[in-house]
Amino acid sequence: MYSLISCVIIQKVFSKLCIMFKLNNLCNKIEEQLPAKLVNFMQKAGQIADNQEQGLYLVGGAVRDLLLGQSTLDLDMVIEGNAIDLAQQLADFTEGKIKIHPRFNTANLKWDKWSIDLTTARTETYVKPGALPEITPSTITNDLSRRDFTINAMAVSLNINHYGTLNDQHGGTDDLEHKLIRVLHEKSFTDDATRIWRALRYEQRLDFHLEPDTLRLLKRDIHMLDTINGDRIRYEVECILGEKYPEKILHRAEELGVLPKLSPALKGNKWLGEKFQQTREISSPDTTPKNLYIALLVYPLTSTETERLISFLRVNKVLAQTLRDTINVKNKLISLTDPELKPAVIYHLLHGYSRHAVIVNAIASNLPIVKQNIQLFLDKLRYVKPTLTGNDLQKMGITQGLQIKKTLQKLLEARLNEKVNSKQEEIKLVEKQILANK
Ligand code: CTP
Repeated sequence: MYSLISCVIIQKVFSKLCIMFKLNNLCNKIEEQLPAKLVNFMQKAGQIADNQEQGLYLVGGAVRDLLLGQSTLDLDMVIEGNAIDLAQQLADFTEGKIKIHPRFNTANLKWDKWSIDLTTARTETYVKPGALPEITPSTITNDLSRRDFTINAMAVSLNINHYGTLNDQHGGTDDLEHKLIRVLHEKSFTDDATRIWRALRYEQRLDFHLEPDTLRLLKRDIHMLDTINGDRIRYEVECILGEKYPEKILHRAEELGVLPKLSPALKGNKWLGEKFQQTREISSPDTTPKNLYIALLVYPLTSTETERLISFLRVNKVLAQTLRDTINVKNKLISLTDPELKPAVIYHLLHGYSRHAVIVNAIASNLPIVKQNIQLFLDKLRYVKPTLTGNDLQKMGITQGLQIKKTLQKLLEARLNEKVNSKQEEIKLVEKQILANK
């Protein structure tokens, strides 16, 4: 009897140890989930670190995704030593390309389809809220403690003797299991308010919840977004728009009062969700949804509000023009509601604006006639050109610059309205005009 009980106890303890071992060692997950080439790379990196007697770890999102069974193309590695040295050796091994940032003692290695960030383990001190932190080389323990959320503050050892061992000093696996986004300390959002946007991004991407205290701190610190410069906020907006369903994040951001910090009139409502969905349905490689998404987001704004947002976010020239054009075309939509509109009129209403701005207006409008007129412009009218050139007109006897311009304009209108349909008919039209002017 006694031996049976002790046997059961030993079995239980052993299976518990196995579970603990499995939970704390991710080597199986690494082998099963990551491509062999990448596993080989990580083992090589571990060997190099071993030779230098330095700790090397896979950290952040890659560990989180590994535990969630999701694949990732971006890896973050932290070394308790010199990250640039390691990057150089790994670049030789992979024949990948490295970019070095000596000031931050970090490097990025691009190889095959992967992007690997290598960083020296560090502590960060925030001298002033919103400013970039001051960095001091440190241990993995301190490095994990400087991070945003528990689910992003785990590390897996890559050194051969501890290969696969999980360092989860902040309870990240528990929070993954309970689907919670949790900051590591009270001042997390104050130190770096971009984490407010990051929290919403992870919450909605993963279908998690903000842990109650984190939610309270987030609400408390929304005003700290004022300490972050436009470039850093733009980066967060770009990350959001790169997600599968950005409308979920924008909706949540409106609900919590985060979205108005970007611009008070922005909306993360049902309309936006429907329009984003339509955008995904029509998107092709040359109409990346990101550009259309941002134009749809600014759609409710006035020209002045749009200009304010453009200058705060310091968006590039092309995107700034798309956003401006979006609002300019929106202000003209009423003219496109006439079903009798001549093609030349449609052309003149829409010509000269960025293609993305025109597409966005077709998506944004709920009126079939507007959509139809814009589609006619996009599919056909914008490509229409007269066959005759300025040179041809000169040869036909029109010598004055202004006259040439006017005639080309007339030819374009005639082409658009299908009054002329061939080079021959264009020549006839020009001859008629020459005669009329004599
Ligand atoms: N990080 C942080 N605070 C920030 C930004 C980043 O603590 N404001 C830390 C997190 O540990 C994060 C890691 O740096 O996991 C890498 O940042 P990033 O590449 O932005 O995040 P990932 O977790 O890789 O997320 P994603 O899946 O969006 O790429």
